[in-house]
Amino acid sequence: MSNCIIAPSILSANFAKLGEEVDNVLAAGADWVHFDVMDNHYVPNLTIGPMVCQALRKHGVTAPIDVHLMVEPVDRIVPDFAEAGASLISFHPEASRHVHRTIQLIKSHGCKAGLVLNPATPVEVLDWVLEDLDLVLLMSVNPGFGGQAFIPSTLDKLRAVRAMIDKLGKPVILEVDGGVKADNIGEIAAAGADAFVAGSAIFNAPDYAGVIAKMRGNVAA
Ligand code: DX5
Ligand code: ZN
Repeated sequence: MSNCIIAPSILSANFAKLGEEVDNVLAAGADWVHFDVMDNHYVPNLTIGPMVCQALRKHGVTAPIDVHLMVEPVDRIVPDFAEAGASLISFHPEASRHVHRTIQLIKSHGCKAGLVLNPATPVEVLDWVLEDLDLVLLMSVNPGFGGQAFIPSTLDKLRAVRAMIDKLGKPVILEVDGGVKADNIGEIAAAGADAFVAGSAIFNAPDYAGVIAKMRGNVAA
């Protein structure tokens, strides 16, 4: 699958020169910008909000911005991100009282909607909402920090969600987030993922284009 989506997580970028980092990673062949929003409440870390998303748009970023909300509550911040230029907005079901309502809220603001499953979240949470979703994001680490190791049981979970999506017959994107590297992306793709978030593997490398090309090559292999 060479038309896979590579979404570098800017969590591992140099925030002191974020615009330049995003330009460089897109010029290096990335498809999306993965934007990790942490609130020190739903997850034990604090990162960036809508103002930074808007600043990237003002800077001239036209690529899809893939907003991963690790915030609680969710609904309050959705309109702000839509206005700031988010393309996709994904959230964790544990952080929303009314998951179906939050999905509709995201779509009503013109963004694509995604649901994020933590390593311990059962896939059954998708049962009655999968057809409303544009994207499912499977966490392959516990959310909150970059640079963690890929949790191997995610591969079985990917296969399970892939089967659910195929049965539905709708092009819901299956994205994976956490510990994705050039040397494990092949088996992750084989398990059914079509979009790949990678933070430390890309931003800690000296040559972004080299890593991204290697990732694409290993997905296609
Ligand atoms: C973790 C974030 C991830 C993280 C991935 O909560 O959602 O996007 O930045 O980083 P790596 O690729 O380093 O595991
Ligand atoms: Zn993320």
